[in-house]
Amino acid sequence: MYINFRRYYLFCQSIDFYSYRAKIKIDMNKNKKIIFSGVQPSGNLHIGNYLGAISQWVKMQEDFTCIFCVVDYHAITVKQDPKILREKIIDIAKIYIASGIDPKKSIIFKQSDIKEHTELAWVLNCTSARMSDLNKMTQFKDKAGKNQENVGVGLFDYPVLMAADILLYDTDIVPVGDDQLQHVELTRTLARRFNDRFGQTFKIPEARLQKVGARIMGLDDPTKKMSKSAKSELNYIALTDDPAKAKKKIMKATTDSDGRVKYDPKNKPGISNLMTIYSLLENTEIGVIEERYIGKGYGDFKKDLAEVVAEYLTNFQKTYYNITNTEIEKILKKGAKKLQPTATDLMDLIKKKIGSL
Ligand code: AMP
Ligand code: TRP
Repeated sequence: MYINFRRYYLFCQSIDFYSYRAKIKIDMNKNKKIIFSGVQPSGNLHIGNYLGAISQWVKMQEDFTCIFCVVDYHAITVKQDPKILREKIIDIAKIYIASGIDPKKSIIFKQSDIKEHTELAWVLNCTSARMSDLNKMTQFKDKAGKNQENVGVGLFDYPVLMAADILLYDTDIVPVGDDQLQHVELTRTLARRFNDRFGQTFKIPEARLQKVGARIMGLDDPTKKMSKSAKSELNYIALTDDPAKAKKKIMKATTDSDGRVKYDPKNKPGISNLMTIYSLLENTEIGVIEERYIGKGYGDFKKDLAEVVAEYLTNFQKTYYNITNTEIEKILKKGAKKLQPTATDLMDLIKKKIGSL
C-alpha cells in the first residue's frame, strides 16, 4: 500500500483541496476510504469490546483501508505497572488478530511508535482545543470521579490525543462503541477549528456505531455498560476467560422476575442484553430468538447462550494462544513503518501552517 501522500500535497497546495484529495485516494489502495480505531492496553478485553467495536472492524477489512492502533499512551493516563502494560500491549494485538483482523489486509501498530501522535496532540491543544470542550467530556467525569483535582492532566487531555490519532491519517470513518461518540464529535470540532484558522488541512471524520451492540451492558448490572475496569468479575466475560467460567457468569447474570424471553431494553434490560449478545454471536435476529423461547424460561435461554458463548471463546482462544510474542512484535513494527511517512508528512505540513518554519 502506498500512503505517503503529504509530500505530494505540499507541491499541490494551489490545486483545489478536494480534487487533490481525490487524486490521493486513487494512489491510496484503489480509492478505498480510511478506517481508524484503537483500544487501550489495560484491563481485560471483554465481549462488549468485541461486539461493540472489534467485530465491526473485521467486516470492514475487505472494503476499506484499515488502521488499528494499540493506544498505549492513552493507557498511561491512569497508573500502569510497566511490566503489565508491556504484556497488555502484546495481548491487545493478539486479540485483534484472534478476532479476525488480518495483518495482511489491515495495518496494526502501537501508538507510541509514531511520535507524531503526541506531537499533533500538542498542536491541537494549543490551536484548537478549549477547556470548555474538555470540561464537557463525560468519560473524564466518570473516570476522575470525585477526585478531579488530583488526577493527571493526561486524563483530562485524553480526547485530544484521540483526535490526533484519527486526524493524522486522513481518517474517513471511526468504528467505535457508543461511549466514544462524544470523543469523535470533539475530533470533528477540533479539525474544523484548525481548518478555519489555517486553511484546509484535516479531513472531517465520522463515527460509525454498530446498529445492535454499540453498548453491551454489564452482566451483574444491566443498567451500566460492560466495563473492563468493573469491580466484579461477574460484570463481564473476558475474551480470555476459561469457557467453563464464562458459562457460570452467564447463568448468574442478573435478569428480572418476569420470566419471558422478550426484548425490551427499557423494562427488561438484563434479558434484553443477553439476547443482544446471543443475536450477535449466533448471527440470529432478535425476533427469531423470541419465537424460539416462547413458553420456555430464562434457565433454558441462559443454558443455550452459555453454550454459544463458550463455543465462541473456545474458537477465539485457539488462535489467541497460538500467536507468539515475536510474531506480534514484528507485526507492530511493520505497521508503524508503513504509517510513518504519512505521519511525518502531515506534521511537516502542520508545522509550515502554524509557522514553525
Ligand atoms: P476501551 O475498552 O474503553 O478501550 O474500548 C475499546 C472499544 O470498545 C471502544 O470502541 C469502545 O467504545 C468499545 N466498548 C467498550 N465497552 C463497550 C461496551 N460495553 N459495549 C460496546 N462497546 C464497548
Ligand atoms: N479512547 C478510545 C477508548 O478508550 C481508544 C482510542 C484512542 C481510539 N484513540 C482512538 C478509538 C482513535 C478510536 C480512534 O476506547
